[in-house]
Amino acid sequence: MSVTLKPKILFVGYGHLAKSLISKSFLNQFSIDSINSKNQFYSLNSKKLVQRLSSSYKYVFLLIRPSLFYEKGSDFNKYLDSKTIVVSCMAGVTINRIQEKLDTKKIIRIMPNVMAKQNASHTYVYVKNKKLINNLFKKILKSFGTFHMSTQEDEMNIATALYGSGPAFIAYLVNSFLEAGKNISPKSKINEKDIINLFKNVISLNDSSHKLDGFVQSIASKKGTTQAGVNFLKSQNLKKIMYTTLHRAYKRAKEISIEKQGHK
Ligand SMILES: NC(=O)c1ccc[n+]([C@@H]2O[C@H](COP(=O)([O-])OP(=O)(O)OC[C@H]3O[C@@H](n4cnc5c(N)ncnc54)[C@H](OP(=O)(O)O)[C@@H]3O)[C@@H](O)[C@H]2O)c1
Repeated sequence: MSVTLKPKILFVGYGHLAKSLISKSFLNQFSIDSINSKNQFYSLNSKKLVQRLSSSYKYVFLLIRPSLFYEKGSDFNKYLDSKTIVVSCMAGVTINRIQEKLDTKKIIRIMPNVMAKQNASHTYVYVKNKKLINNLFKKILKSFGTFHMSTQEDEMNIATALYGSGPAFIAYLVNSFLEAGKNISPKSKINEKDIINLFKNVISLNDSSHKLDGFVQSIASKKGTTQAGVNFLKSQNLKKIMYTTLHRAYKRAKEISIEKQGHK
């Protein structure tokens, strides 16, 4: 398909998340431009700066921070025409708040994560008008990985904590284990790859909470080494720490939904 016949998309903001959405299949199927804080227009297909933007975009993705949207959101009306569908990736910003700034009701909220480029995002979608989720839009979602249609907007805040921020929490946990492994054995060199493989193997063999529980029991024999470590994890209430981590992210998403203009 030639570039000109592909449906056109504009990315407003081209930061961490935007860059992570650009999978090969997404670029092959769409003609995507981006705009940054310096008002530079860039064609992601030709990888060149362009002088001016296309006249009509099928989709305009909001990939800016919520505080900037609350402050300057109405400036982005100039990128919309009557057919454009707005796709907001912003954490916490509700459809009603988006409608306060943009002169359109064609709005889809999605919560992807930075693994979309590798087709490994689990993306939550929320929309008031279900007709907006047509086959074309499903192609975009599938280029990111799997997706889930939310029935209530608050589910987007849960998804923000679990699937948007979650990958960072998991990376932090794995890294803490890695560091601890190195610290406990300063003399013998611990190979990072071996520990990463340990994580992968435990998860690939145990793909449910039931199996994981049984796995712990199968290793933790009475008064043995595993039980000593597991008892410590329990005494530190690791489950509560995990719950609070997710709840803090969820609560922050809810706070963003009611923040006023200009909040930093
Ligand atoms: N990061 C994640 O993993 C993740 C996951 C899910 C959802 N989100 C959501 O995605 C959004 C973006 O997050 P991010 O982490 O990608 O942020 P980021 O890296 O800070 O990117 C923000 C982008 O906005 C651009 N920008 C600033 N002012 C602008 C303006 N006036 N006009 C056009 N573009 C402007 C910046 O341009 P410059 O490059 O010129 O500074 C930058 O490219 C947030 O709303 C966040 O809630 C992020």
